[in-house]
Amino acid sequence: MPAQRAELYFPFSVPLEGLGLPAEFGCLRQEEPVAEVTLATGDKAWLVTRYADVRAVLEDPRFSPSPQVPARVRELASTAFTERRVERLHPGIHEIADDLLTRLLAAGPPAELITGFTSPLSSSVIFELLGVPREDCDLVRGWTEALVSPGRDDLAQARCELDSYLAALIAHKRRRPDGHLFSSPGAAREDLLSLGTHLITVGHESTAASLTSAILVLLCHPGGITFLNSCPAAIPAAVEELLRFDPLARSGSHMRVATEDTEIAGVPIGKGEAVLAATAAANHDPAEFAYPHHVILTREPNPHLAFGSGAQQCPGAPLARAELQIALGFLVRRLPRLELGVPWKELTWETRPEARRLRRLPVMW
Ligand code: HEM
Repeated sequence: MPAQRAELYFPFSVPLEGLGLPAEFGCLRQEEPVAEVTLATGDKAWLVTRYADVRAVLEDPRFSPSPQVPARVRELASTAFTERRVERLHPGIHEIADDLLTRLLAAGPPAELITGFTSPLSSSVIFELLGVPREDCDLVRGWTEALVSPGRDDLAQARCELDSYLAALIAHKRRRPDGHLFSSPGAAREDLLSLGTHLITVGHESTAASLTSAILVLLCHPGGITFLNSCPAAIPAAVEELLRFDPLARSGSHMRVATEDTEIAGVPIGKGEAVLAATAAANHDPAEFAYPHHVILTREPNPHLAFGSGAQQCPGAPLARAELQIALGFLVRRLPRLELGVPWKELTWETRPEARRLRRLPVMW
């Protein structure tokens, strides 16, 4: 650490004005690309901010992750999201997006897009994947909301009810296999339960948050919606750019632990030391992305790290991509005159230590 620098606490506070990332990322990338920081727990970690270094850490097995789900469950997830399986979900995603927008159009303007579109879309797709019957969706959605919203006092009860619901659903699907994830032959019941809970919470929340963020960025990007409306072939590249730019990234960094003495960009890292690979900072590195703070909807190539990289990268990426592409495609087609329904200053945010999340996305058309 340079002698003159004060101790750095991580995560940095996220600016609420505008769509920028914490200013510290830019300074560190230039001046101290592998920097020692202090975490909320008081522990120290090495924060890595340059694209090439972040990618190298994520792809290097000597930096071990602390997985949120066991390796067997992860394996099961990868088989669930092969391109072919995801393709089979496309008609369902189309139907869900179309139906939600039809309801929005019938009731508005104005409308609120998180409760009216992004959140029910992503949860309904996961329910479709798991084979949750339509009539149970609102019930399961209620438990999910309790699990992903901070500070809810009904969290323990929601977890317990969700677990027993999923256990009963798995048992039912095993008796009558119907091709859904839960009827996968050979998968252990506990693994299916663990995967189901992970998908219903984290998988749903990441996709809903990314879609909300993508729409917000488009609304702040003059001509963005009109461009995608007149050029639907540009949507896949636009989705990649919106994932790269994501100012509300679920978490700007991924924790790894060095399994042996090593180094990153010449900085020695001791065995057992924690390393934070800051993908949000990497995705805005000018050494990799020209004009990184601009949204360039046609940017190609776009090797962003929004889904991570290497062995741990997000197994749900094909599904998340399909959802984002289909949802944005429907949105720009059916609401080509969409605009923010309130001035920027009136948007309400929920700030979490590692990210900020929009509470409501009011729109007009
Ligand atoms: C745009 C939406 C999404 C984003 C940005 C995202 C991002 C990520 C990232 C960055 C990781 C790896 C973290 C690391 O390297 O430590 C991850 C892991 C994972 N994601 Fe996603 N994800 C998204 C959607 C989904 C969806 C839709 C699903 C499934 C339905 C899903 C399931 C998973 C699972 C099972 C893991 C593995 C967790 C582990 O191994 O511990 N994700 N995701």
